[in-house]
Amino acid sequence: MIMDGNGRWAAKRGLPRLAGHRAGTENLRRIIRASVEFGVKYLTIYAFSTENWHRPKEEVDGLMNILEDVIDRELDELNREGVQLRHIGHLERLAPTLQEKVQYAIELTRNNSRLILNIAFNYGGRDEIVCAIQRILRDGIQPDEVTPELVDRYMFTAGTPDPDLIIRTSGEMRVSNFLIWQGAYAELFVTPVYWPDFDREEYFKALVEYGRRDRRYGRVSSSDLCE
Ligand code: IPE
Ligand code: IPE
Ligand code: MG
Repeated sequence: MIMDGNGRWAAKRGLPRLAGHRAGTENLRRIIRASVEFGVKYLTIYAFSTENWHRPKEEVDGLMNILEDVIDRELDELNREGVQLRHIGHLERLAPTLQEKVQYAIELTRNNSRLILNIAFNYGGRDEIVCAIQRILRDGIQPDEVTPELVDRYMFTAGTPDPDLIIRTSGEMRVSNFLIWQGAYAELFVTPVYWPDFDREEYFKALVEYGRRDRRYGRVSSSDLCE
């Protein structure tokens, strides 16, 4: 889920950008509940990219505070509902207290399995690939041992299936460095709706549309083979 359009949602209402981020966070709660209800097993939310550091300091600080607040406010309930939290990206650059909170949340929910909620925070797909290459070299892996399956195991998402569907709100037709390795064959769904307004109905529409797609993976359509 590329949660985009918080800033424009706020601007449209004459509010500061951070008010848009707060509204977006409120919406996240709805979408997590809907995911459980729809039977989604893995949900990865793009909350802060490696490029988002280039925003004004006030906004970056605000986004960090929001993540901390969300963990404080929502963790117990998410845990009760059987949600397992994971993180992809780099924690190192975050404040030590925030790092501890994220790690605590991961630890607390590690045995839950109803929904795996993967939080991409300080995440970038290119950064992930660079890190994987560095670790592959450090581990002394030989060139002919490098296969797609091995690379998968060196990604932050090791052990998580590739995304079937990538949803982007706010109408932008790009993936902005999100899961660029794992999303090679993901279906894309772009809606003009801004993230704070992306509700259960809109989410459901995306899933219905996904159900109509013909995923060919480079082959010919299965219906062409039936003649
Ligand atoms: C998405 O909303 C949230 C983050 C990137 C953190 P934006 O802040 O990008 O909102 P727009 O794209 O400016 O409307
Ligand atoms: C993508 O949104 C990142 C997140 C949703 C966290 P951006 O708003 O940062 O993407 P660009 O700049 O429009 O590509
Ligand atoms: Mg944006």
